[in-house]
Amino acid sequence: MKGTFISFEGPDGAGKTSVINAIYHDMTSRLGYQKVLLTREPGGNRISEQIRDVLFDDQNTNMDARTEALLFAAARRQHIVEDIEPALKAGKVVLSDRYIDSSVAYQGGGRHLGTDDIWELNQFAIHGLLPQLTIYLDIDSELGIQRINQHRSDQVNRLDREKLRFHRDVRASYLVLAQRHKERIVVIDASQPLADVISDTQRAIQHHFKNIYN
Ligand SMILES: Nc1ncnc2c1ncn2[C@@H]1O[C@H](COP(=O)(O)OP(=O)(O)OP(=O)(O)O)[C@@H](O)[C@H]1O
Ligand SMILES: [Mg+2]
Repeated sequence: MKGTFISFEGPDGAGKTSVINAIYHDMTSRLGYQKVLLTREPGGNRISEQIRDVLFDDQNTNMDARTEALLFAAARRQHIVEDIEPALKAGKVVLSDRYIDSSVAYQGGGRHLGTDDIWELNQFAIHGLLPQLTIYLDIDSELGIQRINQHRSDQVNRLDREKLRFHRDVRASYLVLAQRHKERIVVIDASQPLADVISDTQRAIQHHFKNIYN
């Protein structure tokens, strides 16, 4: 495929949405809006957004962890087929707020389903489509939660409310993934001021894809 696929990962409050928005803004000013797709998981299209609503419904407190993992994988599959692959075939840059590593870290690590099992489960969903580059925004779990509570307590969802222990397990799993996939995952220190996190991210993208910024 002709396009460029970049995913953004990190624990809650790491700054994924803030950073991806800045990168999107910068890229569209260079390449034009038709050349860049900004999207998020779970979501992107009607079916995936419907699955998202089920996942983040505060009333679904009895959701089984494996059900949750399967729903995330299902939303991902639909996202790939309806949004990501068509954009890549059209030669676009695809920026995705979360992708497969989120499942491995949250369901595999955070929910203790096993990172290898969740990786395998998602191989069926992604059918070979990994990002060329993954920006992993690394942050201390307490600082991440603090940021969310300070800035947008109105948007705290079911997953945000899980215990600190969960967030620590998520981060630990992300760090193992980063070790295992050194060629794909770039670790950025997300405890820095936002402007520095953005410029580090820009540098990493520049380094990987000389053709995007020149
Ligand atoms: N480097 C930073 N320094 C200080 N505050 C930050 C930084 N990055 C983001 N924030 C603030 O922290 C909050 C969370 O940021 P953001 O929503 O971008 O994180 P996220 O990784 O997308 O979180 P989530 O996983 O919950 O979607 C926001 O209010 C944002 O303004
Ligand atoms: Mg976000």
